[in-house]
Amino acid sequence: MKVTSVEFAGAATQPGIYPNLCHPEIAFAGRSNVGKSSLINCLLQRKVARTSATPGHTRQLNFFIINNHLTFVDLPGYGYAKVSKEERTHWQKLVEHYLVSSPSLRGVVIIIDVRRGLATEEEMLFHFLTCHRRPFVVVATKCDKLNREQLEQQRQALAARLPGSPLFFFSARDGTGKAELWRALLALAFPAAGPQTRYA
Ligand code: GTP
Ligand code: MG
Repeated sequence: MKVTSVEFAGAATQPGIYPNLCHPEIAFAGRSNVGKSSLINCLLQRKVARTSATPGHTRQLNFFIINNHLTFVDLPGYGYAKVSKEERTHWQKLVEHYLVSSPSLRGVVIIIDVRRGLATEEEMLFHFLTCHRRPFVVVATKCDKLNREQLEQQRQALAARLPGSPLFFFSARDGTGKAELWRALLALAFPAAGPQTRYA
């Protein structure tokens, strides 16, 4: 995918108050500090989403319009212990409201750390999205941290727990899996378009 323009279209901090956008949306969800913003930046080949070594950096929904055609939504991470219970509840309501109600949302990318695998939060998110009929794909990121043998072990362990869900391996550090993930995201965002049209 050739990214020619990326425009920050605004942020959402309150449930129900979102930028007024019309393009298909793909949202990126995952544990705090898992690498959501880095993955978005890698796909877009520029630093648009703010990344940090400190967890809990993305605290709002950030909307980015790509090629005036498609919107990426960077969601706040879950599972970060060092925020107050009130703030965590607020984030959860904000994210859940968006995932349930956005008319433009076409799919969700659930990002996990390839070294950690799946935890209860991911199982809950799968269940939540399935209940609300939201398509999702799972991306295991930070693949550069494992050797080939370890990656294969993780691939088998994850595949066994994800019957039917597409699984991708990725690294924002070296770009592993980028082209394959782009293809999957375009297919989610534009399901009616054939591959020729999607990649034109
Ligand atoms: P929050 O917004 O705080 O929830 O974090 P996030 O999920 O957006 O993570 P972010 O992209 O800020 O990355 C967190 C840390 O992981 C940073 O130090 C990144 O440099 C590092 N990181 C992200 N992706 C990769 C990757 O593919 N490989 C390696 N080695 N490090 C990564
Ligand atoms: Mg972030």
